[in-house]
Amino acid sequence: MPKKENEPQREKITIPKLREMKAKKEPISWLTCYDHPTALIMDRAGIEMILVGDSAGMTVLGYPTTLPVKMDQMITFTGAVCRATKYAFVIGDMPYMSYQVSIEEAIRNAGRFMAECGTDAVKLEGGERVAPVIEALTNAGIPVMGHIGLTPQSASQLGGYKAQGRDAETARKLIADAKALEEAGAFAILLECMPAPVAKIIHERLQIPVLGLGSGCDVDGQLMIVHDMLGLFERFVPKFVKRYANLSPLLLEAFTNYREDVKTEKFPQEEHFYTMAEGELRKLGELFSKRGWQSGGGQSSRRG
Ligand code: KIV
Repeated sequence: MPKKENEPQREKITIPKLREMKAKKEPISWLTCYDHPTALIMDRAGIEMILVGDSAGMTVLGYPTTLPVKMDQMITFTGAVCRATKYAFVIGDMPYMSYQVSIEEAIRNAGRFMAECGTDAVKLEGGERVAPVIEALTNAGIPVMGHIGLTPQSASQLGGYKAQGRDAETARKLIADAKALEEAGAFAILLECMPAPVAKIIHERLQIPVLGLGSGCDVDGQLMIVHDMLGLFERFVPKFVKRYANLSPLLLEAFTNYREDVKTEKFPQEEHFYTMAEGELRKLGELFSKRGWQSGGGQSSRRG
């Protein structure tokens, strides 16, 4: 992808820079991404944060939930994204059962994102109950983002994929969870699918950057799932999604046209062919007319 001359030179996004953006009330843009070419474009667009989410399980691997996603798969996706980004702050999402079994396993798995992929941080789901894990990871030098509200890894416990904190008691619990994560050392927190007034209260009470997905606008930045905003995930479209492109029909048209061109022999055309150096085709013809088409061009066979 050639660089445009007037493309701005950007500074790498770091945790201090995210804090500075919060202090200056400069909204943070954040998208999920799972592959190298898309990450190159996001980085070039100036997207400040990229989440290599375990949503990859649903958006690119075709699972019905995020639960089957494995650490090794996340390492593959995350490495591809990190190799593309110079500017964006990249967060690796800890998959189901990579941090729940023990603190030792959580440290080992979070360390893999940092050491094998070069992520800037990791994210994990849960409120007060994951505070000890966040504390241990932070003490091990691994920056952690918390994630509360609709936490897809515990969708079954939450009664499905639905907004959380819609009554006073559950909202109170979310506010307490947010505070516990900040106290445990999370450098930032994601609020997924909760009423905008609840997100506003959390934002007012926390010092760390508070990002939102389907949680209104009184936060420090917004996250969207890239397949939702590009119209590439059609199984369901949540209420909070805004489509910035509708790529599915464009891809369908491209694939259909390609198929048609192959069937009707309109592709490939001469401009897609490789040629041979001057005279080489004639020499090849001579070689074969002397030695015959079965001779392998004069090379002796290994079997002799
Ligand atoms: O995996 C993911 O993309 C996420 C978002 C749904 C927040 O965790």
